[in-house]
Amino acid sequence: MTDFLQRTRSYIDHLVRARARHGVHSPFVYELIESVFRPRPVDEAFAAIEQFRSDLLRSDHTIQVIDLGAGSARSNGPTRRVADQARSALKPPHQARLLYKLARHLDARQVLELGTSFGLTTLYLAYGARNGQVHTIEGCPETLSIAKKNFEILPQPRIHATLGSFEDRLPDVLRRMERLDLAFIDGHHEEEATLRYFELCLSKAHNDTVLVLDDIHWSCGMESAWERVKDHSAVTVTIDLYDMGLVFLRSEQAKEHFRLRY
Ligand SMILES: C[S@@+](CC[C@H](N)C(=O)[O-])C[C@H]1O[C@@H](n2cnc3c(N)ncnc32)[C@H](O)[C@@H]1O
Repeated sequence: MTDFLQRTRSYIDHLVRARARHGVHSPFVYELIESVFRPRPVDEAFAAIEQFRSDLLRSDHTIQVIDLGAGSARSNGPTRRVADQARSALKPPHQARLLYKLARHLDARQVLELGTSFGLTTLYLAYGARNGQVHTIEGCPETLSIAKKNFEILPQPRIHATLGSFEDRLPDVLRRMERLDLAFIDGHHEEEATLRYFELCLSKAHNDTVLVLDDIHWSCGMESAWERVKDHSAVTVTIDLYDMGLVFLRSEQAKEHFRLRY
């Protein structure tokens, strides 16, 4: 099956099978819906972050893109418009805000992001984790330098941005973190790579760690990666939102997989 057909099939499946909160019988997931998914917090930072998005979408600058996710161009890649990159790569506001809400709910102190891009989700995570540190890795130098300018709005250096490939830099970044409270894996959407990063993250995870995987139905490979994550012995609850998958390790929960509308 082609990736496009796979995506379409998964999407229709999701529309049919995903539940609203009243169809959820797990008290843990119900509580999560009430305290994380449903609230619509307002933070004055949102306007500033969304202003960056608007500026990026209107930008007529170009950058040289090195896409390590494609596994090909490790030398200088194609020249692309910043606006086009922003349009295709960035999480939309309501999904980025879910990361903010999760970070806040968990009172996350140690957050990891794979795939900084222009830094929008990094900023949402950083404002959500108001007492925490966010470690983020990006492989494209010109993309990261735009993100770093955006990070200057944060009053204290709570964002630690690392340039390089996830493969090369993740072990080091994890070594510098005493533990992992929240991880957002948003780049290099290939099956084996995703599983490798997931396993590496587990080495610093604890019972209340939440791992968020992006684009779980993007391709046949990512679909298979998601199934393998769900089957993993360390994983109990998962929540499939179609665009993202949330993974919980809480040993007090029975192994159970949910699909929710978000
Ligand atoms: C989808 S974008 C991230 C979007 C960002 N999280 C947001 O929504 O604001 C994915 C990013 O990951 C980077 N990336 C992909 N594979 C990578 C790898 N193997 N190592 C380092 N960076 C990688 C890409 O350069 C790209 O900027």
